[in-house]
Amino acid sequence: MVKILAKRVSRQKQLLAASLALAVSCTLVGMSQVASAADGLPELEINEAKAELGKRLFFDKRISGDAAISCATCHVPENGYAHPDALSPGYPGNGHFRNSIGLINTAQKSIWLHDGRLGTNLNDVTREMITEDYIMNMDMRIMQERIKQDPKYLEMFEAAGYGEPSNGSVRKAIPEYLKTLASKGVPYDSGSMSDSAKAGQAVFAEKGCSSCHSGAMFTDGKAHNTGVPENHDIWLDPMNHQAFIAFTMFQGIENYMALKRDPGAHTQWKKADLSNMGTFQTPSLRELTQTAPYMHNGMIATLEDVVDFYNAGGGEDSNKDAAMRPLEMTDQEKSDLVAFLESLSGEALTGPEYVWSEAYPDEYPVIEDWLNQSN
Ligand code: HEC
Ligand code: HEC
Repeated sequence: MVKILAKRVSRQKQLLAASLALAVSCTLVGMSQVASAADGLPELEINEAKAELGKRLFFDKRISGDAAISCATCHVPENGYAHPDALSPGYPGNGHFRNSIGLINTAQKSIWLHDGRLGTNLNDVTREMITEDYIMNMDMRIMQERIKQDPKYLEMFEAAGYGEPSNGSVRKAIPEYLKTLASKGVPYDSGSMSDSAKAGQAVFAEKGCSSCHSGAMFTDGKAHNTGVPENHDIWLDPMNHQAFIAFTMFQGIENYMALKRDPGAHTQWKKADLSNMGTFQTPSLRELTQTAPYMHNGMIATLEDVVDFYNAGGGEDSNKDAAMRPLEMTDQEKSDLVAFLESLSGEALTGPEYVWSEAYPDEYPVIEDWLNQSN
């Protein structure tokens, strides 16, 4: 741990002293360190022992109902913690109806999911992922007891300062790990953009991209309709469709059995005139080279195609945002814009500091004198 700590802080000389002091003062409950933040994004303080526990949980299939999938099944490290399929996998026996979202920098957000329906904290998003029947379908009471069977977890929860394993601490440890997934080596942040990317940055501003993709995360935190076409695999594949029905029914969406449209942010704010049907959160534009395909339903395969989509004024939709209009870009402007988007991406976070690679036990030793043990 000390080694990882030292390696991370050395990239940020100005923080060296502060972080080491912090680390020393936090040895009792696990060390803290400060994640190197990208340009304009706040530093996040990370408790090393809690994050390490969260890492083991993130890659552990035993926290899904039938122990078949982990968070990493749909949030794949090699894909920027997104999934390369247009529509995410679902819990076994289910599909899904949306594209899995890349998790690098997710701890920098204050509103999550394509429809923005969770805006409290990552603790809540983690609960939704674990308990939702088409995602991990886990009863958290069973999860807690299952975790207590594994002696390694008993040690790790203790070392993290949580005492014995509980649902509440799982929902804290995983978000602590998610904080470690911070952009690294991004040309835009380090000022090493190519000339083409720099020209693309000007195109990005001139063509109005920055009116919605604003700030250090390149999002205004709002929902818009850009006319992305529906992905009909949601309704043609019964596995996906049943997940869609379960979701829309539970969310109280009108006429959900016949609906052949993703309601988007209408799920959260049910405007009576339906004018927010098909609006989606403006996504961050960081780490796009790792997270193809794009949009809430994976309908656009490449960044070149995304730029063509915008150049044409977006898709067709009665609720389409007024800012979506044909842009008349030259081929040069288009390729510069792609270069700019690419310059917002950094390294893959696939090393052992991010990925849990030790095997999980298949069997556990019988606990001696278990009646008198407090777990
Ligand atoms: C079966 C696939 C699947 C599994 C397993 C899964 N996720 Fe997700 N995750 C998704 C999909 C799909 C979305 C987008 C859903 C939406 O917008 O409605 C998502 C969204 C998220 C988001 C929101 C990201 C953002 O920036 O808005 C976070 C955070 C997240 N997942 C974390 C986790 C964690 C932590 C776990 C494990 C406890 C997990 N996920 C397990 C498919 C999955
Ligand atoms: C009216 C607001 C708005 C404007 C203007 C806008 N975008 Fe977007 N952008 C969005 C929204 C909303 C989405 C998500 C749509 C969806 O998921 O269906 C999005 C998605 C994207 C994505 C896909 C990201 C991903 O992870 O899937 C890229 C890339 C992108 N926009 C780039 C651009 C560029 C380049 C421009 C300028 C040519 C631009 N945007 C202009 C709102 C906007």
